[in-house]
Amino acid sequence: MDKFEIVGGKPLRGVMAANGSKNAALPILIASLLTDEACEFTRVPALRDIRTTLRLLETLGKKVHHAGHRAAVLASKTIKTRADYHLVKQMRASILVAGPLLARFKRARVPIPGGCAIGLRPIDIHLSGFERLGARTSYSQGDVLLSADSLHPARIPLSFPSVGATENLMMAAAAVEGTTTIENAAREPEIDALGEFLRLMGAEVSGTGTRTIRVRGRAVLRGGRYEIPADRIESGTFLIAAAATRGDLLLEKARPSDLKAVIGALERVGAKILVQGTSIHLRMAGRPRAASIKTSPHPGFPTDLQPPWMALMSLARGKSLVRETIFEKRMLHAAELARMGAQIHVDGDQARIDGVAALNGAPVMASDLRAGAALVVAALAAKGETVIDRVYHIDRGYERLEKRLRGLGARVRRLSS
Ligand code: EPZ
Repeated sequence: MDKFEIVGGKPLRGVMAANGSKNAALPILIASLLTDEACEFTRVPALRDIRTTLRLLETLGKKVHHAGHRAAVLASKTIKTRADYHLVKQMRASILVAGPLLARFKRARVPIPGGCAIGLRPIDIHLSGFERLGARTSYSQGDVLLSADSLHPARIPLSFPSVGATENLMMAAAAVEGTTTIENAAREPEIDALGEFLRLMGAEVSGTGTRTIRVRGRAVLRGGRYEIPADRIESGTFLIAAAATRGDLLLEKARPSDLKAVIGALERVGAKILVQGTSIHLRMAGRPRAASIKTSPHPGFPTDLQPPWMALMSLARGKSLVRETIFEKRMLHAAELARMGAQIHVDGDQARIDGVAALNGAPVMASDLRAGAALVVAALAAKGETVIDRVYHIDRGYERLEKRLRGLGARVRRLSS
């Protein structure tokens, strides 16, 4: 298992371009199951989860060409409607194949993705939405089975604005003739991106970015070319890291409008931020002030940046609170940050952080992707050397992170085993 060795204390300085978004790319690649025509994608981040998704599409019968930041998903004669457990267990987002398979072939069999380090992560909202469209759902040997004689458009109120359920139901609705309305839908920017791609495929999609999404589906959808938008979570991680190291970062090809809550929070702690078009320039002089945050669905503070934010607040002048309202167990990084000298007291979904003047390098372990990002932020700012174990979690969501950080002056090495 690879490790990162980071010698902290150097401010991140320089210019870098944002990569394409992992969480936008995953459903959009999967949406290619909705057509027999070719789908071509650019700005696809080179990440493990992307390779797993493309592999999953291949095992379902698609032809895939993938090189660098480009991917093409092409037709094949037969598509299988049963997803492979070995791939699904590697990546929860695999459940997103259920919607397109059900809508096109009237059946799907997908292993139930188990819980993970950040919580239980059930799929009940996805399934009750499919039932509203006319599907039957049942379970067998750890798989969820979906079937229908025919599907019909429906009004689907979600009990929570789940990102994955909104995406799954939008994809299913795109292949069901008539207008489906998803109420209390997720408003994350990744939903906008999926809506754009489904429109390109021929579905009529309106209301993305609001609580009510309408999808007018078509029996036959076409392929298309699509550029994946910038990754707001990757961008936010770099901005937080630059603030923690008192750096000067010009991030280009980003989407500042997707990052309003994060930019606002960074300004509150003392960062000077200039947004111009698609670039974000952050400068931070001195120690951050403490500022509390609460995660919430978009446009609130994103849960995926809560762990890096906690690393930043560990170094702040004063006390702050971090409340996690999306995932029930997303505080595991607190104990690892404490190994570096952070003063954090976790009580249920809330962490009380008493900022310290400096963190100290230590051997630590990433428990999931964004917890790993938090450790990287802390290590970049800390005194001395930190070795982060289980870097494979970080590799799921940050492309060649060590190389990009080195480009900004950081001392980071990957230790391969
Ligand atoms: C997406 O996960 C992202 N993943 C996550 O990013 C992100 O943290 C999350 O949205 C919230 O923004 C991808 O896009 C691939 P949800 P998803 O369904 O769709 C509960 C990362 O680090 N829920 O909005 O799985 C669920 O348990 C990852 O890149 C149900 O109860 O998130 C959770 O508590 C991690 N029943 C909450 O809703 C359901 O049927 C939000 O989940 C579905 C969800």
